[in-house]
Amino acid sequence: MMNNGLEDVVAAETQLSHVNGEAGQLIIRGVSLDRLVAHARYEDVVTLLFSGLFEPIADAAEFGRRLGQKRVEIFAHVETIDRDLLALPPVDVMRALIARLADGDDLDTALMLLAAPAVFLPAVLRLKRGETPVAPTPALSHAADILAMLGARVPNDAAVAALDAYLVTISDHGLNASTFASRVVASTKAGLTSSVLAAISALKGPLHGGAPGPVLDMLDAIGTPDNAQDWLVRALDQGERLMGFGHRVYRVRDPRADALKGALKQLVAAEPANRDRIELAEAVEQSALAVLRLRKPDRPLDVNVEFYTALLLDALKFPRDAFTGVFAIGRTVGWLAHAREQSLEGRLIRPRSVYVGPLPQQAA
Ligand code: COA
Repeated sequence: MMNNGLEDVVAAETQLSHVNGEAGQLIIRGVSLDRLVAHARYEDVVTLLFSGLFEPIADAAEFGRRLGQKRVEIFAHVETIDRDLLALPPVDVMRALIARLADGDDLDTALMLLAAPAVFLPAVLRLKRGETPVAPTPALSHAADILAMLGARVPNDAAVAALDAYLVTISDHGLNASTFASRVVASTKAGLTSSVLAAISALKGPLHGGAPGPVLDMLDAIGTPDNAQDWLVRALDQGERLMGFGHRVYRVRDPRADALKGALKQLVAAEPANRDRIELAEAVEQSALAVLRLRKPDRPLDVNVEFYTALLLDALKFPRDAFTGVFAIGRTVGWLAHAREQSLEGRLIRPRSVYVGPLPQQAA
């Protein structure tokens, strides 16, 4: 029997994360997302996800120190970016640069792959604007250094906390499409760099990590809260999907949406400039939920992670064509942990297909 989209098919055993779609709960290595976001920074989550999969590292501070060194090493690759490469979308430039890094299976390779997207994306964004890339500052936390390299703002505490909350929230999420791609490649023992490249390629599609840019396009097109309902109904009449809504696993609200909404509210409390945008988003969210309930009564459709990702990354001054790249910065730790788990414990992933094409002609 064929299971379209592999829905409900179990293809891996993992100790890394659990997505409970009915309860709207995400557990990462035994810790629920709300606790993790409240107490952990990016370096803590890396420590948690890598534990037992690579050689031990003393603590999150030591992870941070080694990651800072890797950001400095990786920065040397920025000078290889040429004009042809820079003409591509940011996530494609990032992928091309990562493709030049050596493959390997050890912690050193993993740290290099964590550092690479965090260094490449800000550099690419600055070069696209005609600005000189800003070198990393290894003593800063990963989140603070990303904002410093972006250079669009002084990394104040509120912004760093918001980016940290985002990176923690999206660090891992069960067997999503990009993580599955990472595990498939890892199952062939190709190496961690190859796994991450496959995962980035899967992530960039609009049905996966490419949705938050279009969420902002939708909010811009709607413009004001009183226009929301008419606009959304028209979009559905034209057969469009509402970006930032619906999920393959969640049948209730995506818990990551609330984690990010909370982080956004804290950022706005410190920097009120984005208040209007949030009011519009909340109005659109309410209208969309009502319209979807009416139009798709058999399919529970609720807010997913991308909706508030869009608002948070916009408030942090990332341009919208960079959103998928920022997602990749945060998710790489999950891809690496899954790839390593697969390569240590799993077998070659090789499903079968059902042949529905023509049969060979019988010889007369
Ligand atoms: N807007 C409108 N209708 C939607 C919808 C959305 N965002 N998401 C799903 N639906 C509808 C589909 O049209 C379909 O209706 P039908 O049976 O009447 O044709 C039904 O819900 C089931 O959709 P399906 O494509 O089978 O669900 P899926 O599990 O394969 O899709 C997503 C999951 C995420 C790809 C889908 O919800 C989507 O496209 N969302 C918008 C993009 C997005 O936000 N992506 C980020 C995901 S984190």
